[in-house]
Amino acid sequence: MSKFNLGQFPTTRLRRLRMKEFSRRMVSENNLSVNDLIWPLFVCEGSNIAEKINSMPGVFRYSIDNILKELETAAKLKIPAIALFPQIDSALKDENGSQAIDENNLICRTIKSIKKNFPDLGVICDVALDPFTSHGHDGLVVNDVVDNDATLEILEKQALVQANAGCDIIAPSDMMDGRVGRIRKALDDNNLHNTLILSYAAKYASKFYGPFRDAISSSGNLKGGSKSTYQMDIANSDEALREVALDISEGADMVMIKPGMPYLDIIQRVKSEFKIPTFAYQVSGEYAMIKGAIDNNWLDSMVIKESLLSFKRAGADGILTYFAKEIAKELNNE
Ligand code: PBG
Repeated sequence: MSKFNLGQFPTTRLRRLRMKEFSRRMVSENNLSVNDLIWPLFVCEGSNIAEKINSMPGVFRYSIDNILKELETAAKLKIPAIALFPQIDSALKDENGSQAIDENNLICRTIKSIKKNFPDLGVICDVALDPFTSHGHDGLVVNDVVDNDATLEILEKQALVQANAGCDIIAPSDMMDGRVGRIRKALDDNNLHNTLILSYAAKYASKFYGPFRDAISSSGNLKGGSKSTYQMDIANSDEALREVALDISEGADMVMIKPGMPYLDIIQRVKSEFKIPTFAYQVSGEYAMIKGAIDNNWLDSMVIKESLLSFKRAGADGILTYFAKEIAKELNNE
């Protein structure tokens, strides 16, 4: 552990520093702050809508007007950024996810009204086709396979419509090879060189996304039921470093590991290897587990902070979490 003699009982007593609250605070190694929080939000069509999501108690799909109300709280709490996910009407979904590149689609209208009302709030948007495709896959399906290169053409356009609508951070979550480079080039060619890219670099083919797919109504659609031809094998770790290395070389400003808690080892490896801004996504299934246990009085609500601190210990610079608003409230009152 160290080349120094670290002492021995009874002269050394590690409990001594734990005896009082002040000394525990003095030597606390990691700290959770509002600056670490990114709040994912689901947006739907209509007005004055706050629709429950059964598998995510306490999380709602909001129409744009209600999102703006929620953001008043977020801005007061000084949450730095939100991540937006649209629930697209099923009538508008098609094989090619064409809505994704319509500059008047739900997501672009949402970005515009947020930016008009909260210009200082960071807005992050996914680049992937799953909210828009009738089959629920993140890319184009050609001969029963999600076609990498054909998908890149659309992702590039999707990134551009979102960035032009005012999105600050483009977050490719599709796991196609080469997408970060293509998107970076498209942004640069269109005078959008200051638009940031947060790549979902190591994104696993996880069942922890189940409730999210309910939230955007893509689960029933998912043909084949699995994204394992593009999302990573849950058994792999070295491969995550290759994914991250490639995304950095293609121009990613920040990288993300997803899911969060079951993949803390990956966060730690990525952060110590690359030392670039690294984010964790505490995904919908992690939220559902924790929230479900709290609501049933099986766990104390302090476990939320404990789960978030685990990301900080592992080396994450920030965390996407559905608990962002309630934890920001708590942190602001401390
Ligand atoms: C879309 C996307 C997913 C999530 C974020 N972006 C789902 C998926 O890949 O199937 C999951 C987020 C969550 O579970 O909270 N590509």
